[in-house]
Amino acid sequence: MTIVLDWLNLFVRWVHVIAAIMWIGDSFLFMWLDSHLTAPTKPREGAVVGELWMTHSGGFYEVIKRKSLAQGELPAQLYWFKWESYTTWLSGFALLCVVYYGGNAAFLVDPSVSSLTAGQAVALSLGLLPTAFLVYELLWATPLSKDNRAFGLVGFGLLSALGYALTHLYSGRGAFLQMGATMATVMAANVFFRIIPSQRHMLAATKAGTPVDTSYGLRAKGRSVHNHYLTLPVLFTMLSNHFPSTYGHAQAWLVLAVLFLFGASLKYAMNFRSKTHPVVLTSLVGSLGGFIFLTMPTREALPGLEAYAHARPVSFATVDAIVQSRCVSCHAAKPGTAMFSGPPQGIVLETKAQIGLHAERIYLRAVATKTMPLGNLTGITQAERDLLGAWVAQGAHVDAPGPVELPQAAAPSPPQPAADPQARADALFTTVCASCHGADGRAETDTAKALSPHPRAYVDAAWQKSVTDEHLAKVIVEGGAAVGKSALMPANPDLAREPLVVQALVQKVRSFAP
Ligand code: HEC
Ligand code: HEC
Repeated sequence: MTIVLDWLNLFVRWVHVIAAIMWIGDSFLFMWLDSHLTAPTKPREGAVVGELWMTHSGGFYEVIKRKSLAQGELPAQLYWFKWESYTTWLSGFALLCVVYYGGNAAFLVDPSVSSLTAGQAVALSLGLLPTAFLVYELLWATPLSKDNRAFGLVGFGLLSALGYALTHLYSGRGAFLQMGATMATVMAANVFFRIIPSQRHMLAATKAGTPVDTSYGLRAKGRSVHNHYLTLPVLFTMLSNHFPSTYGHAQAWLVLAVLFLFGASLKYAMNFRSKTHPVVLTSLVGSLGGFIFLTMPTREALPGLEAYAHARPVSFATVDAIVQSRCVSCHAAKPGTAMFSGPPQGIVLETKAQIGLHAERIYLRAVATKTMPLGNLTGITQAERDLLGAWVAQGAHVDAPGPVELPQAAAPSPPQPAADPQARADALFTTVCASCHGADGRAETDTAKALSPHPRAYVDAAWQKSVTDEHLAKVIVEGGAAVGKSALMPANPDLAREPLVVQALVQKVRSFAP
């Protein structure tokens, strides 16, 4: 199943990229043609707007643009450009479903950003696509439709506000992609509902010999121009998904706004070259500068590292314990979760050498931007992130000596070594185990539903009979991976020194036996 999904993902992605290149290529070419037309150099038939000569691949092309055709002038073969845009949208939507809606929407939701559930996140995403086009249509019904600049400004304001809202609801990555998808939907809807029907209308009038209302052509052109200026912003937001420094930024919505401004200004400057309006030129340079400034690796390349300057020395054993329990379920040569058939982005964090090699990326993703673990499915704590941060600040030595020293996940009160083991076990169970195995031992929590394999339901009688107490104790201390089970069952190495607490936990697990 995973393999099939992988192939589907790859196939749809190829279709999407190829169709998008064709669509955007058309948009660029036709806008360029329009802006380079000159007055006819010789008498030409019909309602001529302008002419243009080009040379390409060993020949010369003479292009004449006509506003309308007379009846009987219709050529036998008239080429349309619409499937490029439809295919781009359809394949993009399929990708959205496969990558962002599938897998419990793990790329969309982020519990550290908002409490949106997977279902709500998907519903919001689906609802936004048509709503954006409706709002855009409403703008066309206002006087803004007569003033391209004002339209652009209002559109920019609305998109920035949407970006602000989305980056406070979705994971950064999900928010960026949703922005791209929303703009692209407006573009495709423009083609489907406005541009192509206008062309059809003019064609029908020509065929019927009735006077052609060229205002249809002008209206279609207005939509085309908007689409054209959206192309680069859409491309940039979609591609920024490969750059955590953009969507992982603390002010990700500002990065989005700047990317948007840069894309639209760049397109304008590409069209008008030396005739670019000074305001657009300023916005082009300003937004580029703003983007570089915002995403620039701060002084010491790893933002926030100085905060760990005075932290206690952290042993590699500690780091290893955190990475094994929080990261390796996905970042293994053979991931322990059905979500992935291979390590995401090729990043494997199983061995000392691999962890050392990726220390900076680990810092950026798990400490600075908190974009890892994905959707915090493995429940890393801030204290653990801080330990990783301190280790990197101390030079990320893979031979840093010392025992495993993990923060006590339990009890808000400081753990007392002499405290009642039963009380410690109960506290541990409610604060740690219950999130996955359920307070009732049924493993029906939201977190449990997101995990694959599913956390063990303790109420299963057959399973209770099949395992020994020693086995349970080993799983609890050393984690699932130590007994050939999934590494999603985290290790609790600090319990190795507290056998009484472990025994109490084993009894707790047993207490759910029906
Ligand atoms: C539930 C699965 C999952 C878990 C758990 C997880 N990751 Fe990831 N990781 C991914 C996916 C998917 C990607 C690729 C997408 C992306 O970059 O956001 C990724 C990408 C990465 C990258 C490479 C991207 C880059 O910036 O070059 C790093 C580094 C990384 N993760 C570190 C970690 C660390 C450190 C942990 C543990 C604290 C962790 N991950 C836990 C799924 C996971
Ligand atoms: C991040 C979620 C998570 C947390 C937190 C968690 N577990 Fe688990 N646990 C799992 C998963 C997933 C499995 C299933 C592993 C498998 O079947 O490969 C599992 C399996 C188990 C098993 C069964 C092992 C077996 O051999 O069948 C026991 C026992 C267990 N967990 C106890 C605990 C205890 C006790 C705690 C708290 C100290 C705890 N778990 C915390 C996810 C979790």
